[in-house]
Amino acid sequence: MKISTSAAPAASANVDLLAVAVTKPIVLEGAAAELDSALDGAISRLVKANEIRGAAGQVTVLHTQPGDGVRARRVAVVGLGRRERADAESVRNAAGAAVRALAAARGRTIGFVLDGLPLETGIAARCAVDGVVIGGYRRELPQPPSALTLLSSDRSAGAAARRAGLVADAVNRARDLQHMPPNELGPEQLAQRAREIAAAHPTLRVEVWDERKIAARGMGAFAAVAQASSKPARLIILRHTPQRASRAASGTVLGMVGKGLTYDSGGYSLKPPSSQIGMKTDMSGAASVLEASGAIAELGLPLRFVTVVGATENMIDTNAFRVDDVLTAANGKTIEITNTDAEGRLVLADCLHHARTLGATHMIDLATLTGGVVVALGDYHAGLMGVDQAWLDRVRDAGERAGEHVWQLPLHDTYKRLFKSDIADMANSSSQRMALAPYAGQFLKEFAGDGPWAHLDIAGTADLSRSRGDYVGKGGTGYGVRLLVELAESLC
Ligand code: BES
Ligand code: MN
Ligand code: ZN
Repeated sequence: MKISTSAAPAASANVDLLAVAVTKPIVLEGAAAELDSALDGAISRLVKANEIRGAAGQVTVLHTQPGDGVRARRVAVVGLGRRERADAESVRNAAGAAVRALAAARGRTIGFVLDGLPLETGIAARCAVDGVVIGGYRRELPQPPSALTLLSSDRSAGAAARRAGLVADAVNRARDLQHMPPNELGPEQLAQRAREIAAAHPTLRVEVWDERKIAARGMGAFAAVAQASSKPARLIILRHTPQRASRAASGTVLGMVGKGLTYDSGGYSLKPPSSQIGMKTDMSGAASVLEASGAIAELGLPLRFVTVVGATENMIDTNAFRVDDVLTAANGKTIEITNTDAEGRLVLADCLHHARTLGATHMIDLATLTGGVVVALGDYHAGLMGVDQAWLDRVRDAGERAGEHVWQLPLHDTYKRLFKSDIADMANSSSQRMALAPYAGQFLKEFAGDGPWAHLDIAGTADLSRSRGDYVGKGGTGYGVRLLVELAESLC
C-alpha cells in the first residue's frame, strides 16, 4: 500500500473515502467542521438527529456530490468514544472501521485526518497506519486498499507513517505465513522465507541446518520431536551485523527465538480432532521473529541480533518419539518424555541454548506454547514470563506502544516440582493440571542460560478463531512483529 502524507486541506484529498474521527460528546471543529460546511451541514444535521454519536467503532458514510467542495467520493465519520478515554487503540480501531467501510464500498484509496486526534502526531500517524494496513488485511476482502493519505499539518507525520507502514507490511507477511496450509508450508519453506529475507538485506546472514546436523550437534530434544516427520526439520539462524552498532547497543546482542511447528498433531499423545484444527499456526512465533528480523534490518537499526527458529512438524510414525523416551538436550540436561504434545518446550530448549551460544545477551522467545495461557489470559494479552524484571518491563512497555499487549505470569522455583523426574533431570509434562503456562516457562528457564530472557506465550493472541471485534479481525494476527521492532528500537 502506498502511504503518503499531505498538509493540504482535508476537503481537497482525492480519495475514494475520507475518514475523519470524532469523540463523544461531539464537537465539530477543525477538519470535521470544514467538511461539514463544505457538505452544507450534512454532518451536523446527523449529529443533531443523534445518528452520529461519536461512539467507539461507529462509522457513518456520507456520499459527496460533484459541486460539494469535497473532492473525496465519500466522507466517513468514525467514532473514537469518549474523549478522555480515547487512546492509541481507539485510533487503530477507528482506522480499521474506516478501511472496512472503504472495502464495503469497493473503494481502493483512503484518506485519514490526523489533526485533532487526542494523540501526539507521530503516534497518531502510526496508529492510523496500523488500523488501515493491519485492518485492511482480509483474506475475504475483494481488494485491499491501494493507497493511504494521512492528512496533517504537522510534518513529523511522514517519517512515523513510513516506519509504521514498513512494520505493518511485515505483520501482514507474518500472517500470510500463518495462513499457509501445512502441506505447502513445511520447515524447508520457512527456511526459504528466511533466505529471501536475508537476500534482501546486506546486513543479514542466514544459516540453515538440516535434520542430520541438528542431531549431530547434540540437539536431542529438537531432533526427537522432528524424527517422525517426512518433512525434515530445519534450524534457521539469521544474524544481523549493522554497519555500526549504536553506542547504546554496542554491548548488546538481541536474541529472538521462535517456535516453528508447521504442524502439531500432538504425536503419540495425539490431540483430539477438534484440537488439531488450526495447529498449522503453531509456527506463529517463527513467522513473527523472521518477519520482525527483516523489518529491523530494513529500518537499518544499529543493533546486532541473532534470530533462531526451530522448524519442524510433530507427527506420528513408527519412528516417532514416545512417551517414556529420555532425551539429552544440547545443554546436556536429560528430559523424560511424559507427553509428546508438550513438544514446543523441547524444540525451544535447544534453540534458546543455541541463541546464547551465538552470543545473545538479551533474549526473547515467542511461542504458541500452551492452551493454559488461553484459559488464563484469553486472546488480547500474551503471557510474559522470564528472568530480569527490568528486561520484562522493557518488553511489556514495547508491547504497549506497539499495540501488542502482554500480561506477566509468575516463574518460581516451586514449579520445579511439577517437572521432577525419577529417571532424568526433568520431565516435559506433569499429571497435575495446574499452572500450565508457568510450568512451561519454568521448564524453558533451564535452557535459557544466564542473562535477561523473556518468554512470550502467544497461544491465545497469534491466531483468532473469532474476531475480538477490533481492527485486527480474525485469523492470524502476526502478533509480536510490532513488539519486537519496538523492543529493538528501545535498545538503540
Ligand atoms: N501448540 C500447543 C499449544 C496450543 C494450544 C497452541 C492451543 C494454540 C492453541 C502445544 O504444543 C501443546 O500441545 N501444549 C499442551 C501442553 C500439555 C500437553 C502439557 C497444552 O497446552 O495442552
Ligand atoms: Mn503440542
Ligand atoms: Zn505445539
